[in-house]
Amino acid sequence: MKIGVLKETRKNEKRVAITPKIAKDFINKGFEILVEKDAGLASAYDDASYKDAGAKVVSKDEIFHDSDVIVKINPLDDSEIAKLKAGQVVISMVYHRLQPELVQKIAKKGVSLFSMDAIPRISRAQNMDVLSSQSNLAGYKAVILGADYMTKIFPLMMTAAGTITPAKVLIYGVGVAGLQAIATAKRLGAVVEATDVRPETKEQAESLGAKFISVEAETDDISEGGYAKEQSEEFLQKQKEAVNKSLFDADLVVTTALVQGAKAPVLIKEDQIKQMKRGAVIVDMAVEKGGNVELSEPDKIVEKYGVTIIGQTNLPSTLATNASELYAKNLYNFITFMADNEHFHFDMEEEITKHTLLVKDGEVLVGS
Ligand code: NAI
Repeated sequence: MKIGVLKETRKNEKRVAITPKIAKDFINKGFEILVEKDAGLASAYDDASYKDAGAKVVSKDEIFHDSDVIVKINPLDDSEIAKLKAGQVVISMVYHRLQPELVQKIAKKGVSLFSMDAIPRISRAQNMDVLSSQSNLAGYKAVILGADYMTKIFPLMMTAAGTITPAKVLIYGVGVAGLQAIATAKRLGAVVEATDVRPETKEQAESLGAKFISVEAETDDISEGGYAKEQSEEFLQKQKEAVNKSLFDADLVVTTALVQGAKAPVLIKEDQIKQMKRGAVIVDMAVEKGGNVELSEPDKIVEKYGVTIIGQTNLPSTLATNASELYAKNLYNFITFMADNEHFHFDMEEEITKHTLLVKDGEVLVGS
C-alpha cells in the first residue's frame, strides 16, 4: 500500500502529516511512502531526511496518481479534490459537522474518507487522538504567547531592588488544553486558578497545583463521554459570580471552554473585561469556535479597556516540529489499526471505524 503525504495548503500552516521518523516506521511495516516535495520543510524536516528514511519525494500530481492512501492534516482543498481517483482512501481532519458539503464533494469522487478529528475519546483510541495531541501543545503555547504580551513576569523574584510578586493566571476549562496551560503557568512560577463545569476536573487541576474554583449551582448531566454539555444561562450566571473576583485580579487568562457539537460558551463579556486590571492579557483559545470572550477576533490582537485579547488560531502550527511529530504518530497508530500493508479492514462494527469513516467508496455514511 502506498501512502502519499501532501504538503499543507492552508495559509500559515507549517505542520506536515508524516515525519521522516514515522515514514521509516511505516516502511518497516511494509508500506511505501511518497512525500510531496518540500512537504516537511516548514516543520524543519527537509526532503533529504525523508529520502534517508526510505521515502520517495515526488510532485503533487504523482502523489494523486500513485497513492492508495492520501494523508494530510487540514481538509483537502478544491484543487486537490479534483485530482482524487476512485478507490483511494483519504485521511485528514474534516470537521464534517461544520462543513457537510465538503464530505459530499469528496464522496462524489468515489473515494473513502476517514476523519482524524472524529476519533472517539475512548482509552484504546487515545494514541490516535489528534485533537488531544494538538490541544496539549496549544495549551502550552497559549501561556507562552500570553507571557509575551504581559508587562510582568510569572515568578516571585526577590532582588536587591525589591520583591516582585508572582503573576496570577486564571484558566477556564480544564480539558486537554487547560491542563497543559495550568502545568505550564505553574512551572513558570505563576499562582494559578482554574474552573470547569465537570466536577471531576477539580482533582486534576489541584494535582497540578492550581486552586479550583467550583460553581455552586444546581445542575445535573454535566458531562458525557469526557465532554461537557451545554450549560443553562442560570449556570453561566452563577459561574460568573464565582469566578469574577479571580478574573478581575488576574494578569493572564486562558480560556479553553468547549462544548462538543455546539458553539463555544461566552464566558467573559465586555462588562467583565471593563473591570479587569490594566495590562491584563486574555488568550481565547476557543476563538475559532465562536470564542469564550466577547471581544476576541480570530487571528487578531484586540486591545480594549487596557486589556489585550489574543485570538490566535492554529497554535499547534506555531510548534510545527513537535505538532507534526505527534500528529504523525497518531496517524501511524490509526492506519496500522485500520489496515495492514495491503488493504483497509473497513470493519463497520468496530467503534473507531464507525466514528471516523465518513465515506466508503463514494457512499456518505454520516448525516450532517
Ligand atoms: P476539551 O474538550 O478537552 O476541554 C474543554 C473543557 O471546557 C472541558 O473540560 C469542558 O468541561 C470545559 N467547559 C465546557 N463548558 C464550560 C464552561 N461553561 N465553563 C468552564 N469550562 C467549561 O477541549 P480541548 O482539546 O482542551 O480544547 C479547548 C479549546 O481550545 C477548544 O475550543 C479547541 O477548539 C481550542 N483549541 C484551539 C487551538 C488554537 O490554536 N487556538 C488549538 C487546539 C485547541
